[in-house]
Amino acid sequence: MRGSTGKSWTRFVTTLFVLCAVCCGTPAAAQPSSTAAVLIVAFGTSVEKARVSYANVERQVKKALPGREVRWAWTANSLLGTSSGKKPVLSTQEALAKLAAEGTKDVSILSLHIIPGAEYNDLLRTAAAFEGLPKGLRRVRLAPPLLYGTDSLKSVSRLLVRSVPAERKKDEAVLFVGHGTHHASGVYYPALQYYLHTLDKNAFVGTVEGDLDFEVVLKSLQDAGARKVWMAPLMTVAGDHAANDLFGAGEESWRQRFIANGIQVRAIAKGLGEDPAFVAQWLEGLKKLSDRDAR
Ligand code: CO
Repeated sequence: MRGSTGKSWTRFVTTLFVLCAVCCGTPAAAQPSSTAAVLIVAFGTSVEKARVSYANVERQVKKALPGREVRWAWTANSLLGTSSGKKPVLSTQEALAKLAAEGTKDVSILSLHIIPGAEYNDLLRTAAAFEGLPKGLRRVRLAPPLLYGTDSLKSVSRLLVRSVPAERKKDEAVLFVGHGTHHASGVYYPALQYYLHTLDKNAFVGTVEGDLDFEVVLKSLQDAGARKVWMAPLMTVAGDHAANDLFGAGEESWRQRFIANGIQVRAIAKGLGEDPAFVAQWLEGLKKLSDRDAR
């Protein structure tokens, strides 16, 4: 027993030394990083040209919060390990662990999701799990998605109506098609439909998955007597769903099915992330977080 006391003591001193080094702020990794960072989390896309949306978001984030380290994470498992530009695609966990190892203390996460659905709730859990770990991140905050509460429904409705090309005539329908979900937060889509209708009787919301499917939307357009519809994705990027499900050449796409039902289609093939007004809406939530940090 006595012989091991020396060893225990040495181990204790070593542990103390390591703890002090960590507490006194010596980052474990050699690569320096600022103490506050923004982590932009998106679903990700396999469509190269859809990334203009992400590039635009990054530019606006850097402008709104100058001096912050800005990093990315994607939530689509199938896209992890591939590369975006020259950088490898990291998961949220990998990106947070890397920031912690570099000595970052505070991370504000900007979630480029539209509704607080399953992926957003996963993010909340991940953020909570990474916060306050010894040697790790002190604070990990998550900004709200684009739609979060009544005020956001009203302002996003206004932005959507404003985003329609001036060429569209009042009696022509306009349709915003979101991803859709079976998560409880899918109620955001019919809620958005309600607020949109208060601004424009010919504005509609649809979803690729979930209740507001093609048949439901077609019936609404027919009831409204629409002969032409301006269709836009209600998605951060105009990626795979926009290219195939909405505007694809195959007879299953929404475009072809509208045409088959005698309704002309005009495509607005842009992701919301390409429009500075929508990015500003996302950034409002992020700025509120960093104002709190400053206090
Ligand atoms: Co999908």
